[in-house]
Amino acid sequence: MEMKEKIQEKFRTLFGQDGDLFASAGRINLIGEHTDYNGGYVFPGAIDKGIMAAIKANDTDKVRAFSIDYDEYVEFGLNEEDKPAQSWASYIFGVCRETLKRGGKVGGFDTVFAGDVPLGAGLSSSAALESTFAFAINYIFAGGIDKFELAKIGQSTEHNYCGVKCGIMDQFASIFGQKGKLIRLNCKTLEYKYFPFNPEGYKLVLIDSCVKHELASSAYNKRRASCENAAAAIRKNHPEVEFLSDAKRVWLDEVRDEIPEEDFLRAEYVIGEVQRVLDVCDALERGDYETVGEMMYQTHFGLSKLYEVSCEELDFLNKLARKYDVTGSRVMGGGFGGCTINLVKDELYDKFIAAAKEQFEAKFGHAPKVYDVVISDGARRL
Ligand code: GLA
Repeated sequence: MEMKEKIQEKFRTLFGQDGDLFASAGRINLIGEHTDYNGGYVFPGAIDKGIMAAIKANDTDKVRAFSIDYDEYVEFGLNEEDKPAQSWASYIFGVCRETLKRGGKVGGFDTVFAGDVPLGAGLSSSAALESTFAFAINYIFAGGIDKFELAKIGQSTEHNYCGVKCGIMDQFASIFGQKGKLIRLNCKTLEYKYFPFNPEGYKLVLIDSCVKHELASSAYNKRRASCENAAAAIRKNHPEVEFLSDAKRVWLDEVRDEIPEEDFLRAEYVIGEVQRVLDVCDALERGDYETVGEMMYQTHFGLSKLYEVSCEELDFLNKLARKYDVTGSRVMGGGFGGCTINLVKDELYDKFIAAAKEQFEAKFGHAPKVYDVVISDGARRL
């Protein structure tokens, strides 16, 4: 049965009618990693895997929610202070609370939802969930909240209910995503530009290491703190530095002895990465995929050796990509496991994927998963 029918069938069983259908998407990011919370550029797009939800206002002050994937029912009141115990429900709870905090309208509603974003693969299943509900609640209760605020509702849900001090990239991509287009976002000014992405002769493919790191969110918050520390040191000499992305590389060198070496390395990566996004966008406009790919390898090096968010499995996949002449390859998303994103010439694709599956399994004892990327629409009413 299709996901849509499954959801409506369950909705009818639980609530006696059909719900209105909404959806949002997971995301990829071509380049610009860990730059968002540093006020730099990112270059994501929404993908054809996401969350779908049936929703109907229920004229109470309660949310009654059922997750098909977890086969679990949760009820919470809109005025309750404590989040539900189930983590999937705390995202919905967070979105309601954050909408209310901003003066938005939220009434009670019934919902059934399901998803097909692989969990823990770095494709932002959580942003897809937050964006689906932020968008749907605003639609149903006619809240009049603009799209950036909807993305920020998802981001604050992560900060305040999930313990991850994330940037705006994931929620931005899953709200603003458009079919066939990547979006370059300046995370400081929030200016953005759509770039058609249709690399003729190449495929974009994700290889999921299926590795999940338990402490990923605390390690993520620690990276952010290092960047803020480096920016604060630079700011003493250059008050115009609001975010780390405003700093010139030589300004970082000036404070090398004043900050821990670890913070220096993190900042070195970020300053390089902000420039790489601009270089990749220029190269894309020229159809120069070799440069795009080379930048992806540079990003991988930085994420692995300077930012230290890669792992043995991802480094292995990256090395293998080089060996098989893959144009570009790097760890994608927050890191500490998840996927590599690979730009592969059509004629090399089969050979590379077969080799990656076989050699990865031989080394690590489990097969990686492979997802072809299709750039798709973000949050919408179906
Ligand atoms: C996670 C966060 C994003 C971003 C990326 C790294 O996906 O949610 O805000 O920082 O990591 O680029």
